[in-house]
Amino acid sequence: MMDNIEKPTYSSIDFHADDLLCSNPQQNQDEQSSSSLDETPSSIGSPGKYLIVVSRIERAWAHWTKLGCPKFIVAPMVDNSELPFRMLCRKYGAEAAYTPMLHSRIFTENPKYRSEEFTTCKEDHPLFVQFCANDPDTLLEAARRVESYCDYVDINLGCPQRIARRGYYGAFLMDNLPLVKSLVEKLALNLNVPVSCKIRVFPTLEDTLKYAKMLEEAGCSLLAVHGRTRDEKDGKKFRADWNAIRAVKKELRIPILANGNIRHMEDAQNCLEETGADGVLSAETLLENPALFAGFRTADWVAGNENEYVDGKVDQADLVVEYLKLCEKYPVPWRMIRSHVHKMLGGWFRLQPQVREDLNAQSRLTFEYLYSLVDRLRELGVRVPLHQKDTSAARDSAEVVAI
Ligand SMILES: Cc1cc2nc3c(=O)[nH]c(=O)nc-3n(C[C@H](O)[C@H](O)[C@H](O)COP(=O)(O)O)c2cc1C
Repeated sequence: MMDNIEKPTYSSIDFHADDLLCSNPQQNQDEQSSSSLDETPSSIGSPGKYLIVVSRIERAWAHWTKLGCPKFIVAPMVDNSELPFRMLCRKYGAEAAYTPMLHSRIFTENPKYRSEEFTTCKEDHPLFVQFCANDPDTLLEAARRVESYCDYVDINLGCPQRIARRGYYGAFLMDNLPLVKSLVEKLALNLNVPVSCKIRVFPTLEDTLKYAKMLEEAGCSLLAVHGRTRDEKDGKKFRADWNAIRAVKKELRIPILANGNIRHMEDAQNCLEETGADGVLSAETLLENPALFAGFRTADWVAGNENEYVDGKVDQADLVVEYLKLCEKYPVPWRMIRSHVHKMLGGWFRLQPQVREDLNAQSRLTFEYLYSLVDRLRELGVRVPLHQKDTSAARDSAEVVAI
């Protein structure tokens, strides 16, 4: 973890308690490595390193294999896939993770943004650091600052939000493929780590395949495909198109990750089988259930099959406590912590809405308050278990067959 996290000095204009880091990073310095994001960017790798196509594809696979071919991956999430959350998900089965999207220009210009929005530690691998960008030189400058901390520098080509339209990045670059090509080429030619991209699909398969092929040829070493179009913003309303992902996997030679519709491990396994993808990303469901990749599921995904599942003996309050301990170790802005507590305990708050209201009334959070909030829910008798497949039943039936 970087040692340059400064205590923020806020002007009265932009002060907001939730933007403060959750503890004084000085306390954590012993656990942090001495490297700094503010050092001069590392030297440029030999130009053309990733250019020669055949050897680049081989390198892409060699790199992926060296990382252990991770299959279950935490998707990039602004304000939500920060270090403590990644570490929690890794403990519960995630084999790799993306940082939240970082804005390449702000990252190059603003030390406070850098030190608060990007933190990592030596166990935080494999790691994708994701940037949004629309200028190749700025992107390269930002990427050089993080390349020695990560396994891929990723370009966000999928963000469909209004802010991305205004800033001209993410999925809005699908209207300017020459610019996308120049971003990928710039990194592929000049970085020491491979470049990956995360895309959305076009409305037609033909356009999607052309796009994906262009990215591979430009030097992309790994492609994550979110199987929804730019206009299909609501993940609950629109199912991701796994057929399009399968077609991309067939067409390209680099590792492909599938994204969309992963709500539990059975979805993950089905998606890997149906698309042939090398791994899957999950986002929204992980926020509610960071133990998804360890085989736990929330009641929503057990409904109708209750007899096949048992209480997993881990619940979201346990996970919140583990998450808070990680936040004490790896400080992050309070707004991120607040967001995770709401998402993980959403089901619990529905049963005890006054506890949620009390949380909302706190303009400044403390760890003491948050631990006591969990205790209060428990004292009120609330418990919403996470469920696991009843393997003892499966074993029993296997024994019956064996007899
Ligand atoms: C809170 C939140 C923040 C997100 N931020 C990013 C981001 O920073 N970069 C990105 O490429 N996608 C971002 N996404 C999109 C997810 O990575 C993912 O592509 C999308 O949610 C579909 O996956 P899902 O069906 O598992 O939720 C975000 C999604 C959520 C829910």
